Amino acid sequence: MSRNWISRLSVPFAAVAVLAVVVFGTLAATHPAMAQSGLDPKLVQELQGSNAAGPQAGNVPGNVEGNSAISEQWREIRRGVQGTVSIPDKKAGVLVQSEGENWRNFRNGPLSTYSIWGIAGIIVVLALFFLIRGRIRIDAGKAGTTITRFDTFERFGHWLLAVSFMVLAFTGLNILYGRYWLLPVVGADAFGAITLWGKYLHNYLSFSFMLGLAIILVMWIVHNIPNRYDLIWLAKGGGMFTKNSHPPAKKFNAGQKILFWLVILGGLSISLSGWSLLFPFEYPMFAKTFEIINVFGFDLPTQLTAMEEMQLAQLWHAIVAVFLVIVILGHIYIGTIGMEGAFDAMGSGQVDLNWAKEHHGLWVEEKKERDDFNPKPEPAE
Ligand code: HEM
Repeated sequence: MSRNWISRLSVPFAAVAVLAVVVFGTLAATHPAMAQSGLDPKLVQELQGSNAAGPQAGNVPGNVEGNSAISEQWREIRRGVQGTVSIPDKKAGVLVQSEGENWRNFRNGPLSTYSIWGIAGIIVVLALFFLIRGRIRIDAGKAGTTITRFDTFERFGHWLLAVSFMVLAFTGLNILYGRYWLLPVVGADAFGAITLWGKYLHNYLSFSFMLGLAIILVMWIVHNIPNRYDLIWLAKGGGMFTKNSHPPAKKFNAGQKILFWLVILGGLSISLSGWSLLFPFEYPMFAKTFEIINVFGFDLPTQLTAMEEMQLAQLWHAIVAVFLVIVILGHIYIGTIGMEGAFDAMGSGQVDLNWAKEHHGLWVEEKKERDDFNPKPEPAE
């Protein structure tokens, strides 16, 4: 039993080991733009001090009452008027960036609320599906012989992507919800340390995520081009809802193709917005994207300040990330407890012959035609 599990998990372990090297290697060569861990604690203290009992102790500076010129001036500042500064960073000329309030309200309001509903919702749906349908079994029972489903490099690419994604998901969700959920449990010091290391992991694992994404794109794109069998598969709900229903599929069925394209397009989009966040103010992309979208009759704003670009990048990054987390939870369910025999495909790379015939019948036939069909006795558990 132990040998079998070791061989099944050796590739996932290898992917984790590579990740560890990537993380610690790159941490050693910390890039200053990525090392900003937030605000300088001294600055935070000063700001908090000035909030509590600042120089004006809560009063609006200037002789506002009865002095309409000054109150008008403050009104302009509040509206985000840009003044002049002598330091190189001209953004500092804006004292109050009003859109920041909209961004904060949206991030801490609808974005956080709907995201948690979405994640909780998919967990409930999967639990109900499991209760009603149960585990999808191999209808014909195990054949006792296995064939190769994914080679070592395919499994390496998958696990590089998967492990990176899961670490990015946990550390990203901590950025969004940690202060509400984790902070009260572990206390401020531990939360600070966890979040700081989480931020480093989030920054650096983005590179292994992008590498994993590129690997699966190159390896599997040809197998994910839609074909006529996909419509039959979709019409039969993939045979997921009834026993003894096995619509034909090649290497990937229509459901897997949908997942593949969601991961590729969502992953690309999240990578671009993440890149923009990783190197602040250096890669604005929303104004240009909006210009392109406007060609199709939309009226999106194309004059965005550098700060608005960052705020949009953050919102878009979070929305797509949460969407992918929801999709991937469904995928992890089917790849583990949801379907008998599925995990082996990515664990050892060998799948039971009857599993393969039931879920990917046309692929088995293709393997036979290519002379790539060498069933082996299943290793003893
Ligand atoms: C614990 C986590 C995960 C498990 C157990 C898992 C399991 C699997 C399995 C068993 C397969 C092969 C299915 C088959 O043979 O037909 C697969 C394929 C795939 N996985 Fe994962 N996976 C995980 C996480 C992820 C993540 C995080 C991503 C992407 C961000 C991902 C993307 C894919 C893609 C694109 C495929 C090919 C299409 C498909 O088979 O659905 N996986 N995974």
